[in-house]
Amino acid sequence: MCGIVGYVGPGSSLEVLVGGLKRLEYRGYDSAGVAVLSRDGELGARKRSGKLGMLVDELAENPIHDGGTGIGHTRWATHGGPTDVNAHPHFGDGGKLALIHNGIIENFSELKAELADAGEVFESETDSEVAALLVGRAYRETGDLTEAMRRSVARLDGAFTLLAVHQDAPGVVVGARRSSPLVIGLGEGENFLGSDVAAFVEHTRRAMEIGEDQIVTIRPDSVEVIDFAGAPADSKEFEVAWDASAAEKGGWPSFMKKEISEEPEAVANTLLGRVHDGAVTLTELDGVAEALAGVTRVVILGCGTASYAGMVGKYAIEAWARIPVDVELSHEFRYRDPVIDEKTLVVSVSQSGETMDTLMAVRYARQAGARTLSICNTQGATIPRESDAVLYTHAGPEVAVASTKAFVAQVTALYLLGLHLATLRGTLTEAEIAGQLTELEAVPAKIGQIVESASGRIAELAHWMSDTQSVLFLGRHVGYPVALEGALKLKELAYIHAEGFAAGELKHGPIALIEPGQIVFVVVPSPRDPKSLHKKVVSNIQEIRARGARVIAIAELGDVAVVPFADEVVRVPLAEPFFEPLLSVVPLHIFGMELATAKGLDVDQPRNLAKSVTVE
Ligand code: F6R
Repeated sequence: MCGIVGYVGPGSSLEVLVGGLKRLEYRGYDSAGVAVLSRDGELGARKRSGKLGMLVDELAENPIHDGGTGIGHTRWATHGGPTDVNAHPHFGDGGKLALIHNGIIENFSELKAELADAGEVFESETDSEVAALLVGRAYRETGDLTEAMRRSVARLDGAFTLLAVHQDAPGVVVGARRSSPLVIGLGEGENFLGSDVAAFVEHTRRAMEIGEDQIVTIRPDSVEVIDFAGAPADSKEFEVAWDASAAEKGGWPSFMKKEISEEPEAVANTLLGRVHDGAVTLTELDGVAEALAGVTRVVILGCGTASYAGMVGKYAIEAWARIPVDVELSHEFRYRDPVIDEKTLVVSVSQSGETMDTLMAVRYARQAGARTLSICNTQGATIPRESDAVLYTHAGPEVAVASTKAFVAQVTALYLLGLHLATLRGTLTEAEIAGQLTELEAVPAKIGQIVESASGRIAELAHWMSDTQSVLFLGRHVGYPVALEGALKLKELAYIHAEGFAAGELKHGPIALIEPGQIVFVVVPSPRDPKSLHKKVVSNIQEIRARGARVIAIAELGDVAVVPFADEVVRVPLAEPFFEPLLSVVPLHIFGMELATAKGLDVDQPRNLAKSVTVE
């Protein structure tokens, strides 16, 4: 939610800011704006509602003097509609200070009334303008931007990242963060700030974390971090593991198409270096080995797609490590007084590592004494930083707002965790673990085969269905979360009503939805499945077919039993039953993307959404 970038250095700040905003646009695309200090100390700003292109056009029509100090913002609207006036930056100190904000200032009504009484005039309906006016007033009193920021954040409740520049402080950008993302990019004679490293990776891969409740002041040759009390704070430097080209479209029609094609690498890279001689080696969990061996319960937390990855993980971890696993939506977890203690392992799953609901749930779990493990795709993000241990997924940067390759990487990491726990607890033999790992390592090539062989036919199906109003998805066992994921992709990408159900639930209600012509995707378990769920799902297909449904089955190669009952069969290669989700989800990702494309929609930036939901 909201992308933020800041720059100080000898380069063109407008180029750096607009380039950074382009890479951060997935965080919100309701409006965009920049503020720049020209070389002769004049503050210039432009802001426009709509996507970044609107701002770029505005800058071309009404240029501002460029300089070496600036801040830029791309907005996902919270307080106040997506208008020009509500776009960031906002101004304080009589227009001499510009400020951008990500997050929500919860006490903004009180502060607004107080500031209005003091004679300040508000131009926008945003909560952010309150911060701009506060920092502006504090600057008038102190003449120091860092101190002005420090005094102001003490007045704010809620979650925020703030960046500010002041006309009288050339070569300085000050940032502050509380429960909202901000990282530093370290250059040679130039420095950067960004909501995530994508903002500056084109210029430097050296980055530095900023902790909770800290303020950073960047100048071309220095970076200073203090806490909200004003004491110097330590920051950890890290090297960004990918380069700018990884976050480029690189000739693909959309980021989503590129990212689906990268699903094989997302799985392979998440396994890389973690499987040796038929055993799982998760050295990053060494520090919590004792705690892991003693856990009596696992709780997996996540939202949306990440929670579906967690559901797949639950089936695998329970089966292999014989430990009870609950999966819960992060935003429900902490509001229901859950029973957790120091023997509970709370595993958070988050691509961004910044999802506010999940972050708050992790903090809650820590306070309750649980051990916390983060499965995350973003280095230096808040959730891994605040967890006892982290297992990074190596899907590479995911730019399309809807998750695809991150899902398969998350599922893979959860399989590794399951096998690791099984090793620690001795619930599987070495040979069994080695057998599972051999199967898992074969998965990336199989995903590649699906992308290659099924994409064309799925695109045809999607075009044929482009005016469909409703699609249902059925799955069972590990296929159930896949059905939920298929439905979510269709909702968010193609704006079509879609529901996922556990196939066994059908007769308990959802079958009433079936009428002639209703399209139903069915994720069919392997006929080799030891629990014989295949037969039951084939019966479900017959039941809905008898009521007029048009069935598209996602079935394993060689499964002939589904053929007489399905209108269409999309084939996936054979895999060990627990690993089937990594394969069966791929046609559903392709289908969501193709249906949205057939409807002429923007698959990378669906309406109303933003990647990285940093507000509750
Ligand atoms: C759906 C999607 C979302 C995210 C969810 C969690 O395609 O992308 O449902 O999975 O918002 O985000 P992270 O994984 O960043 O915590």
